[in-house]
Amino acid sequence: MRRMMPASGLLLALCAAVLAQDVPPYTEDCRSGTYPPAGPTFQGLAPWYTVNLDQPPSERWKKIISDKKQPLMAMIQQIKDLVKSIFHSEKLIDLVDTKLPALVGKLPPPFDEEIKGIAEASGQPLGEILLFNIFYELFTVCTSVVAEDMSGKLFHARNLDFGLFLGFLTRSVLENATSYEEAKTLLSKTVMLAPAYFILGGNQSGEACVITRSRQSCLDIWEIACGAGMPPCPNVSPHVSRIEAAQPNISIATIYDMLSTKPVLNKLTTYTTVMSVSDSKLEAYLRDCPDPCIPW
Ligand SMILES: *[C@@H]1O[C@H](CO)[C@@H](O)[C@H](O)[C@H]1NC(C)=O
Ligand SMILES: *[C@@H]1O[C@H](CO)[C@@H](O)[C@H](O)[C@H]1NC(C)=O
Ligand SMILES: *[C@@H]1O[C@H](CO)[C@@H](O)[C@H](O)[C@H]1NC(C)=O
Repeated sequence: MRRMMPASGLLLALCAAVLAQDVPPYTEDCRSGTYPPAGPTFQGLAPWYTVNLDQPPSERWKKIISDKKQPLMAMIQQIKDLVKSIFHSEKLIDLVDTKLPALVGKLPPPFDEEIKGIAEASGQPLGEILLFNIFYELFTVCTSVVAEDMSGKLFHARNLDFGLFLGFLTRSVLENATSYEEAKTLLSKTVMLAPAYFILGGNQSGEACVITRSRQSCLDIWEIACGAGMPPCPNVSPHVSRIEAAQPNISIATIYDMLSTKPVLNKLTTYTTVMSVSDSKLEAYLRDCPDPCIPW
């Protein structure tokens, strides 16, 4: 017994020396002073591209696609590998090449022509270009509706009251909604193909909400605090809840600090964007999370 004492004493001392940031899940105290971005978690500025909507839809993406052809092909390959590993079969990918191209012609403008333009600029099959634009829906919808029988025959069934793809809805709102309220209405009411949630911020006090959506309807809207010292509450609809919280010292710098704190920053973090509509600011930084760092 006595002989063991020093050993356990040593173990205790070792444990005390091991900080939370050195053991999984590698949490750490809130970082401060990380802004402006520097050091090993900062990998440079995200590049900027101008997509000119005055150009015909088929021309708009040519520049960015020719610059990003390699990563685009790698991403499509990743999606295909993932689909294959989920279904243990190449058949779904065959469907992508044989059936999806016909769907492109049925997409609402400008998406039909834009996707054709992207396929042309990248030299990739049309179906695969559509695949990466809608893979969010393919995973949330298809994983539950495609089945294969013992002989390898595929069954695909669904009551499809066709809704809008997530990427197309957000793009339409960003391009054409002219106010916070219009954006909020479109994001909460448009019929979609898969559930999603949106975080929306306006340019005036009180204009902030998180919208949780099912395909057909709005499940929930959380809005920033109002009343009681905050801006007056606008009309309340049945699904609206309100977040009452103390306001910390918020700035681009403190938000960057928060997003630089592990495990909010983790191995899946590829970039950090901080936006302020009122200041017309959008800053985007490429990130890394060097070891020790949790995978997600
Ligand atoms: C935005 O509105 C214009 C004018 O109605 C329309 O041509 C365009 O296709 C719309 N954009 C999207 C993404 O729906
Ligand atoms: C906020 O946005 C609305 C709608 O786009 C615009 O009319 C208004 O001028 C903006 N207000 C400020 C303070 O930027
Ligand atoms: C808020 O944060 C800024 C920048 O980090 C700092 O200079 C300022 O002193 C802080 N203010 C308060 C009230 O904590």
